[in-house]
Parts: sequence; structure tokens; C-alpha cells
Amino acid sequence: MVAPKFPILILSLRLTSSIAYNLLDRPTLKYGTAWKKDATADLVAKAIRAGFRHIDTACQPRHYNEAGVGDGWVAAARELNLDRTDIWLQTKFSGLNAHDPDNVPYDVNASLEDRVRQSLQKSLENLKTDYIDSWIMHGPEDNWDDHWKVWRTMESAVDEGKVRQLGISNFYSLEDVQWAYDHARIKPKVVQNRFYAKSGHDVGIRAFCQENDIEYQSFWTLPANPDAFHHQAAHDLSNRKKLSPEALFYAFCMAIGISPMNGTTNEVHMKEAIALMDRIRRGEKIFENKEEMDIIGNALGTPEWNIEGEL
Ligand SMILES: *[C@@H]1O[C@H](CO)[C@@H](O)[C@H](O)[C@H]1NC(C)=O
Ligand SMILES: *[C@@H]1O[C@H](CO)[C@@H](O)[C@H](O)[C@H]1NC(C)=O
Repeated sequence: MVAPKFPILILSLRLTSSIAYNLLDRPTLKYGTAWKKDATADLVAKAIRAGFRHIDTACQPRHYNEAGVGDGWVAAARELNLDRTDIWLQTKFSGLNAHDPDNVPYDVNASLEDRVRQSLQKSLENLKTDYIDSWIMHGPEDNWDDHWKVWRTMESAVDEGKVRQLGISNFYSLEDVQWAYDHARIKPKVVQNRFYAKSGHDVGIRAFCQENDIEYQSFWTLPANPDAFHHQAAHDLSNRKKLSPEALFYAFCMAIGISPMNGTTNEVHMKEAIALMDRIRRGEKIFENKEEMDIIGNALGTPEWNIEGEL
């Protein structure tokens, strides 16, 4: 009686592990690595085993153990027989004031351009790689003069083949995003921001990103928006969709073009996140209509959340 079940089980396992996808497809859930300290390598390896392929970190020892990310992906890749090109690594250049004064990953007395170059060199060493898939300016500089010094240096790293694409983070003014885009030789491909009501959920910035082929990545996605997915109608919907309320909220974010960071340390939650990604990659539309979207959207706290061109 047990035997006949085997082929079915094997088939479904194969289906799960054989979903081919392009690492540049958007949106995707990405594994966030902040605040994991000594557990970083182990957790990154677990995340990759669970199915994550996009890993986000920063060359900022105050919050990130970037070398642990390097150890983690290398160990998991060896075990799973993956190549470097099967993994997508994103890291960041963080300015002086984002570091602990006694733990800066570059020479504080070097020119701004040299600090940027040294930070990249450190990231390449930490991540045990000769290229970075996505390199982000962690926050705005104090003035545009410095912004362009940093950005031009980042652009030359793309020219040198050390970096595949560039992005910006913690930019909450649409004018600034536009300025940073319009005057860049190599255009930002990522805006990574906190997704929350205080910034009007970046409605204008997200529309700009959609128009200009920029990936909008969100962090603090769940903690900043509990009211959107913890209410009766959202729970009913998540039950119907066989998702946790948290996963339903991620599905909502991805339906409106957002790539959320997920930094869970819990393997069950890792698998839950990847199960959601797999359903989406197989072509399932978690939200079937506008009414279902409204159940989450109308509880977000930003009435005009529904920017054009979605769903
Ligand atoms: C940077 O310069 C200051 C002032 O000249 C000096 O006191 C400090 O030791 C230098 N720091 C490093 C890391 O070279
Ligand atoms: C990560 O994603 C899972 C699955 O949706 C969710 O249950 C969990 O709360 C998330 N955790 C964090 C820390 O982002």
C-alpha cells in the first residue's frame, strides 16, 4: 500500500527542485543577512539549501558579517554543486557615518573615491568572488558633489567587470531618485528602501522604478506593515490561498512589483518563502482580482498604493 505513493512523491520532489529560472527575473524574495553575526555563514547556507538564490549583504561590519556570507554561499554551493553564476550576490558601499568608528572596512583618511574602491575590494574578498552581481550605495551622501564622486567610482567598477549592476538605497525623495538616475552614466538598476506608510509606501518612486526598469527592493516589509495582513479578511484570504498571512503579504508586494528582503533565521520560514516563490514561478497568480488585492492594499495606510501598471 505504501509503494504506489513513491513515484508520486518522487515526481513532486523533482518538480520542486527543477524549477528553472533566470536570476534576473523580477520580482523575487531575497535573503537578507543583517544582524546574524557568527550565525551568518550557517544561515546563508541554510537559505541556499532551502532554495534562496538571491543574497543581500553590505560591507558594513556594524550590522553585517559579509565574510560569513562568503563562507555560507561557498559551502552551500559546494554541497549542492552550484556555480558562482547560480547565486546572485548583492552588497553595498556604506559611507563613513554608517560605520562604527573603530570598525571601518576602509582607510578613513583615504579620498572618498579610494574608500569606495577599498570597500569593493573588501567585499570581493569577503564574498570570495571576482564579481558582484549588484552593488548598492547604502545611503545618500551629504551632498551631490560627494554623491557623484561615489557614483562615478562605482560606475568604473562596472567598466572593469567587477560589478554587474548598480543601485541606491535609503532614497526617499522622488526628486533625488530622478536626479541620481538622470545624471548617471550607468543607471541605477535597484532602489532598496524601507516600505512603509511614513514614506507613502514610495508610491511615486515605485512608479518611477517601473517606468525605468529599476527593481524596487523593500526591507522591514513585515514589521512596518502588520496592520495590512493581520486582520480577519486578510487571514481568511491567506487561509484560502494556503499561505501564512506573512507570505500573503509578500505575494501582495510581488504582485505590485516589489522584491522584498526576507531575513528569517527559521528554516521553516525559509522553506515557506521559497514555496511561495515556486508557486509564482510556476505561473500561479496568488491574487486573482482587484477585490483580493484591495483586502491587503486598503489596509496599508496609503490610499493611493495602487500605482498604475500593476497586476
Ligand atoms: C587618520 O588621520 C588622523 C589625523 O592625521 C590620524 O590621527 C589617524 O591615525 C589616521 N588614521 C588612520 C587609520 O590612518
Ligand atoms: C520570512 O518569510 C517567511 C515566509 O513568508 C515569514 O513567515 C517570516 O516571518 C519572514 N521573516 C522575516 C524575518 O522576514
